[in-house]
Amino acid sequence: MKRELKKLAGELAAYIRTVDEDTYMPPVTGNQLPVTSNQSQVASYQLPVTSNQLPVASRRPPGDGAEMAALIEEMKQCRKCLLGNSRLNAVFGVGNTAAKVVFVGEGPGFDEDHRGEPFVGRSGALLDKILDTVLGLKRSDVYIANIVKCHPMVNPENPEARGNDRPPTPEEISACRPYLDKQLSFIKPKCIVTLGSVATRVLLGVTQGISLARGKWYDYPVELFGPGHPIKVLPTYHPAALLRNPNLKRDTWEDMKMLKAFIEK
Ligand code: SF4
Ligand code: URA
Repeated sequence: MKRELKKLAGELAAYIRTVDEDTYMPPVTGNQLPVTSNQSQVASYQLPVTSNQLPVASRRPPGDGAEMAALIEEMKQCRKCLLGNSRLNAVFGVGNTAAKVVFVGEGPGFDEDHRGEPFVGRSGALLDKILDTVLGLKRSDVYIANIVKCHPMVNPENPEARGNDRPPTPEEISACRPYLDKQLSFIKPKCIVTLGSVATRVLLGVTQGISLARGKWYDYPVELFGPGHPIKVLPTYHPAALLRNPNLKRDTWEDMKMLKAFIEK
């Protein structure tokens, strides 16, 4: 009963987020039309169109909206690997689907499984802090996803236990990969930040440890913008590693400054 309620709560939270995302408009820089008093804020919001600026709506990625919603529905029913049997909630991703940067973690943990949103536990709080203090961004400015969408558990019989996390297996990773590929092809970010060694190995095929791989730009091997226009990938430490070893924060801060310089370029 408790589990069913939690699942329902997670699904409701996920639904509310999709509604928010559907109505979310990226901030428009430049002159904005004033909202007049006899119109409602939502109805009167107009995007200023200047000669060199397309309306924001038409710059939104083609996958946003119906295609993305269909993918989320498919994933919620997904049983392509065994993780689908023990999850409470499939965790698709969160944030701005027109973001310049996508952060990719490993897979949902206890908190994410319960809430249906990536990086909402202790690692997530630290990720939010890094976004805020180093990049001046909120999670709604970027997009956050994981390599696998369901919680890999040591003991799948007990989704209510904390400390029941394990890395995803190669079979789970390859079963789930199409969801991430589609997400990325819809969002078409300028760059991807891989959080930790699993995401780095999966997306780049880099086998060296994260301490050697981090802090350098790589080309994403999948060409979403056509030949010669690679998406850039920056590996850095997973926030969970920083919680275990705060000495790694300094390097992570350096990596985030590289990211800031790149996205502001
Ligand atoms: Fe499907 Fe991915 Fe969940 Fe496996 S982890 S059941 S492939 S959504
Ligand atoms: N760790 C991850 O890799 N992803 C999450 O969503 C949470 C913790």
